[in-house]
Amino acid sequence: MSKLSQKHLLGIKDITEKDIQLIFETADTFKDVLNRPIKKVPSLRDVTIANIFFENSTRTRLSFELAEKRLSADVVNFSTSTSSVKKGETLLDTVNNILAMKVDMVVMRHASPGAPYFLARHITANIINAGDGTHEHPTQALLDAYSIREKLGDVSGKKVAIIGDILHSRVALSNIFALQKLGAEVMVCGPPTLLPKYVKDLDVRVELNVKRALEWCDVANVLRIQLERQQIKYFPSLREYALYYGITKATLDSLKKPIVIMHPGPINRGIELSSDAADSAHSIILEQVENGVAIRMAVLYLLAGVPA
Ligand code: CP
Repeated sequence: MSKLSQKHLLGIKDITEKDIQLIFETADTFKDVLNRPIKKVPSLRDVTIANIFFENSTRTRLSFELAEKRLSADVVNFSTSTSSVKKGETLLDTVNNILAMKVDMVVMRHASPGAPYFLARHITANIINAGDGTHEHPTQALLDAYSIREKLGDVSGKKVAIIGDILHSRVALSNIFALQKLGAEVMVCGPPTLLPKYVKDLDVRVELNVKRALEWCDVANVLRIQLERQQIKYFPSLREYALYYGITKATLDSLKKPIVIMHPGPINRGIELSSDAADSAHSIILEQVENGVAIRMAVLYLLAGVPA
């Protein structure tokens, strides 16, 4: 079996283009499995996986759990709201207690950037980052790029605009790394206050006008305004943001060519994306979610092949 170059999936920055292509080829096989009447394979029988989520999640958590169960792994789930973290237990103590129960792999979401890197220095189990604060969300970027490949045939040479709250987004950074490794041209677009200073070091185009960004791109990956991470006001009001940066079906219909609309979810309907745009023929948002299961099966399967 071919293997990934890393024993963990902490960020897209750490993996190679070859790793990404291997994940995609493996996901193709698992996507075929998921379309069969019997959607389960024995690949991870006797492997125990803990999903530890210190932050809320719908898609990522369900998608990982489903991927693990489709691979016949034993699965345990942990969330902070019902755990001893509420009594002051540390991250390392929490994880070491879970590992003492003979867990082989850990899927972790945490609000602090770098939390999975910290764990990787202290434990031997394979770790998959399911989103660390505003830093990276590697499996989201993989499923996004995979969905572009499925829709447009290839990622290489495609123009992808990432639009919205770049400053607070882990999806943006992981997408930039993945798309560049796969040979796409990347643009970020949003109000200047929502573009991080480090963007100038990432070799991406920067555009402040959303109509110009949409005219340029083949694919627009529209990001959520992350109000829960905003301690100060970055724009006057949501109404004004929707007016200047919100994408509607009318905007899409006014473009010279059709483009593909993506969103990692959850969508703030009527703010960054109107319902008629999110649910239009341009949108592949639910295909992204469907592909997430195959991509996560591929990542789990390939990492399990690397000795811990
Ligand atoms: N895309 C994504 O990470 O969604 P959740 O926060 O619901 O997992």
